[in-house]
Amino acid sequence: MGQFDNHVVIITGSGRGIGAEAAKQFAAEGAKVVINDLNPEPAQEVANAIKTAGGEALVVAGDVTASDFPERILSQTIKAYGKLNILVNNAGFTWDGMVHKMTDDQWEAILSVHATTPFRMIRAATPYLRDTAKAELESRQVPENRCIINVSSTSGLHGNIGQANYAFAKMGVVGLTKTIAKEWGAFGVRCNAVAFGFIDTRLTQSKEAGEVIEVAGTTVALGIPQKLIDTRNERSIPLNRPGSPKEAAAGILLMASPMASYITGHTLEVTGGMGI
Ligand SMILES: NC(=O)c1ccc[n+]([C@@H]2O[C@H](COP(=O)([O-])OP(=O)(O)OC[C@H]3O[C@@H](n4cnc5c(N)ncnc54)[C@H](O)[C@@H]3O)[C@@H](O)[C@H]2O)c1
Repeated sequence: MGQFDNHVVIITGSGRGIGAEAAKQFAAEGAKVVINDLNPEPAQEVANAIKTAGGEALVVAGDVTASDFPERILSQTIKAYGKLNILVNNAGFTWDGMVHKMTDDQWEAILSVHATTPFRMIRAATPYLRDTAKAELESRQVPENRCIINVSSTSGLHGNIGQANYAFAKMGVVGLTKTIAKEWGAFGVRCNAVAFGFIDTRLTQSKEAGEVIEVAGTTVALGIPQKLIDTRNERSIPLNRPGSPKEAAAGILLMASPMASYITGHTLEVTGGMGI
């Protein structure tokens, strides 16, 4: 018996990093998992790993910011598995720059993936989360666990040099989270945010490693300039080390768990204590 038996979970951006770990952990706990990524190959690898371990997974690849994407992933999920319990808005990347040099494209691209897309995904999920929960309540059935997890960041909670666009979007999803918690709470649908600090993925590796993401015809360099990494003080993290993607994903499962049935509108900081 897993704590997510009979659950269907969508995780955007789950071909790599934190999302990939969350997909594997949800599947290991019994969930049917819908994997999405901009890049189909890593998404398929995660699905294959889940199936090899005896779990169930479906891949719906594609850019989450495309206007038809939310309807597409929701309809494929319902066709394959018949319902949705948990939506994890995780997909994203960083496109850093000091505010005096930041272009409109840079600003809009980051708002689009980290703030507008979570809003559109939640809106598209309305029939399967809000409306189904409402009907269940009205017919006095035992309610299923239904919730949304929006991924935020310490950059949103505290601001961060070079990340005006990202900080704006990641704080925006905190407001979105609280609003959905208030709008859908009456039907028992929970909405929480999980804010990560310094998690060891390609987003926090040295920019000089050369990782890039291709989005809407633009190549964006990922990572943090080595000179900033050299001056990074891990002592500002009480646990004195970066978190692993596994540890970060566990924060998502914690908030999605039926054990969190009375927690909504909350932002869980998975930061090793950074920023307290
Ligand atoms: N790593 C950290 O320290 C950290 C800290 C705070 C918040 N976060 C957030 O956690 C989430 C996951 O990041 P990660 O660190 O695992 O990074 P990652 O790059 O390892 O994984 C993110 C995945 O999202 C996918 N993706 C990006 N844009 C997409 C799009 N438009 N459509 C579909 N897929 C897309 C990427 O291809 C990638 O596989 C992001 O929202 C990120 O902002 C990360």
